[in-house]
Amino acid sequence: MTRGFARGRRLRSTPALRRLTAQTRLAPADLVLPVFVKEGIDEPVPIGSMPGVVQHTTDSLRKAAHEAAEAGVGGLILFGIPGEGKKDASGSQADAADGVVNVALQQLSADLDDELVLVADLCLCEYTDHGHCGLVTPARGGVRGQGGELVVDNDPTLDRYASVAVAQAQAGAHVIAPSGMMDGQVAAIRAGLDGAGYTETPVLAYAAKYASGFYGPFREAAEGAPRFGDRSTYQMDPPNADEALREVAQDLAEGADAVMVKPALPYLDVVARVADAVHVPVAAYQVSGEYAMVEAAAARGWVDRRRAVLETLTAIRRAGAGTVLTYWAVEAARWLR
Ligand code: PBG
Repeated sequence: MTRGFARGRRLRSTPALRRLTAQTRLAPADLVLPVFVKEGIDEPVPIGSMPGVVQHTTDSLRKAAHEAAEAGVGGLILFGIPGEGKKDASGSQADAADGVVNVALQQLSADLDDELVLVADLCLCEYTDHGHCGLVTPARGGVRGQGGELVVDNDPTLDRYASVAVAQAQAGAHVIAPSGMMDGQVAAIRAGLDGAGYTETPVLAYAAKYASGFYGPFREAAEGAPRFGDRSTYQMDPPNADEALREVAQDLAEGADAVMVKPALPYLDVVARVADAVHVPVAAYQVSGEYAMVEAAAARGWVDRRRAVLETLTAIRRAGAGTVLTYWAVEAARWLR
């Protein structure tokens, strides 16, 4: 029957042919490892919902960073958790020079030279006592926001973000990645960086970040769960895709150098559309819940862990993301070498 027809199977018949004809390749340098560093702990603290992931001490982070560099990973993205009693309404530890993430950035940039790109996640939720990504204010004008009578106040938050960006750049961050989903955040951060002389520090915008149920484990890791309400007045609504293109266009107009879609697997259509629409680097964040799902199934023997991990990463690259943020970055990089 198939004689004389194009046959899909011809090019699948040996591993060498499959390798030669693979359209999507994954390389260690495509991967960015998210890391958590916490102030005031003596030992790394495991995160129950993310087996294999820990809250680092500054020392254990330095070691982990060396391992990541050795594995050929492209970069790290840092999240800081202030010590007990140090969270406040404005998230002051985010831009304190001796705040944990800024200390870690100083150490890593000195240790590593240029072996890894150090990306600083820029948000306030790990630093505020209310757990929201911006400053909160009493609701007015009939606006109902995060529950109770408080809403996240966009414009005053922008000034905070600009200040945090400068502190992070000063501490040694190579890239600033705002994840708070405030309107105008890229412009505010760009102006802040330029005003402080950091004209060469790029901004990787979390441009299309959805209000996702897949962030659950992260909130344990970063201790940044909102104390009231949720993030659905600032993060994007899952049904929307055209809106992602508007957010991306807006961030690029404000000066973003690269854009991110987050989460990854449930939003591969968005990754693909964004990658088609723009000519800047596109990143996708494979979030904590995506990690936890595969780990949980693999722990029960329900999926083959390595195959499942590499398949998800390949899918995200195939959809069009050049860079993938993943908690498996180091392990996957070793597999790929
Ligand atoms: C904070 C932030 C979140 C994540 C990255 N930055 C959580 C949130 O928005 O609630 C999630 C990452 C993950 O789940 O792995 N703005």
